[in-house]
Amino acid sequence: MAVSSHNDAPITGHVVHHALGRDHATLIRRLMTLRNRLVQSPIFTQYATTWGEASRKLIEYHRARARGGIGLIILENTSIDWEVGRTVGNPARLDHDRFRTALGELTEAVHNEGGRFAAQLHHTGRQNTRANSETGEAPISASDGPASA
Ligand SMILES: Cc1cc2nc3c(=O)[nH]c(=O)nc-3n(C[C@H](O)[C@H](O)[C@H](O)COP(=O)(O)O)c2cc1C
Repeated sequence: MAVSSHNDAPITGHVVHHALGRDHATLIRRLMTLRNRLVQSPIFTQYATTWGEASRKLIEYHRARARGGIGLIILENTSIDWEVGRTVGNPARLDHDRFRTALGELTEAVHNEGGRFAAQLHHTGRQNTRANSETGEAPISASDGPASA
């Protein structure tokens, strides 16, 4: 996701997805208008809890950046598969409904400061290792390229 201006779009403040066609981009522009072109790219803060829930520290970190004026903040490599597909350590996660409450609080903190919030959906795929799998399973991937050890 990146800030861009298409030929038929106003110069400032709209988010489009380059992978989508023109019609879809128009739809997304209607859904999300930014106050400026400042976008914070995903940063693995290691501020989530050890089980990946949005912690007070993570919430306050993003609240402060929204207060500082960033238009769109993209949450770090947010795990969609904690057991076999997460980055080593404690990234934020949204692979289960039970994480919605804290993530909702995080989103609200950014919105209350006038910012917009998105998440980088993340799966390590074949770059994971058995050692980093909760179950000891081999890494899984959508492609059939060689896996890590
Ligand atoms: C501490 C740290 C954590 C990062 N975490 C992520 C991440 O979770 N996902 C990602 O795609 N990029 C991550 N990046 C890359 C940044 O989003 C950014 O693309 C990179 O730092 C280049 O931007 P810069 O030249 O302004 O530093 C990270 C970078 C740093 C320094």
